[in-house]
Amino acid sequence: MPENKKFADKTSALPEHVAVIMDGNGRWATERGLKRSEGHKEGAKKVPVVANALFNAGVKTVSLYALSEENFSRPQDEITGILERIEEFIAAFPKLFKEGSVRLRFLGSVEKAGEPLCSVIGQAEKDTLFCSPFTLNILLGYGGRAEIIRAARLLSEKNEEFTAENFEKELYTSGLSDPDLIIRTGGEKRLSGFMPYQSTYSELYFCDTLFPDFGEEDISAALSDYSGRNRRFGKI
Ligand code: FPP
Repeated sequence: MPENKKFADKTSALPEHVAVIMDGNGRWATERGLKRSEGHKEGAKKVPVVANALFNAGVKTVSLYALSEENFSRPQDEITGILERIEEFIAAFPKLFKEGSVRLRFLGSVEKAGEPLCSVIGQAEKDTLFCSPFTLNILLGYGGRAEIIRAARLLSEKNEEFTAENFEKELYTSGLSDPDLIIRTGGEKRLSGFMPYQSTYSELYFCDTLFPDFGEEDISAALSDYSGRNRRFGKI
């Protein structure tokens, strides 16, 4: 069995891996006459709510799109605010999830977060390395095309055979199953560079709810919608 578990039971009514593109924090704040950073604060409060609701439903892997590579060109104070929310989240992590049950991973050009956050992230990943059965991935400084180019470069440097199996080991998602379900909040209907290689057969669910308002009921609706999908993976 290759490390990347492509052969898991993908016809199950319950997704094994759910991703959330957390969109709408800025609009949530603007609608209330608040600064965009207030929207990110409210969004950050929803991160453990959403992850725990998915884990409690039986989902094993949750991936949250926090900051894309492109997001780093937003005004510095907005980026600083989001990075502060991430740092607070890591500090609170042991209290937010059932002890020893969640492995925390960061996917992307994490070095863009700078120090000291980069070291804090590295330590959190080490501290939770053997936690199971759940995995929470936070995409930070992530770009889908950049991930593919990076993986190709790393594989070519290794001088190994160019197979899908070897290539997938060089992706940030090495060892993870592909997302079965990708949810995007905030009404936009696009993936914005989210895991282009891994999402080829993902089911997509778009909802209008802005991320700070997104909660357990929306998750139930998304999971219920997924359970009615007919996944054929190009077969009949
Ligand atoms: C997109 O909404 C959201 C982001 C770019 C940041 C997401 C960050 C968080 C939810 C908080 C921190 C994360 C963690 C993991 C603790 P937008 O700002 O593009 O919203 P808009 O489309 O309404 O402008």
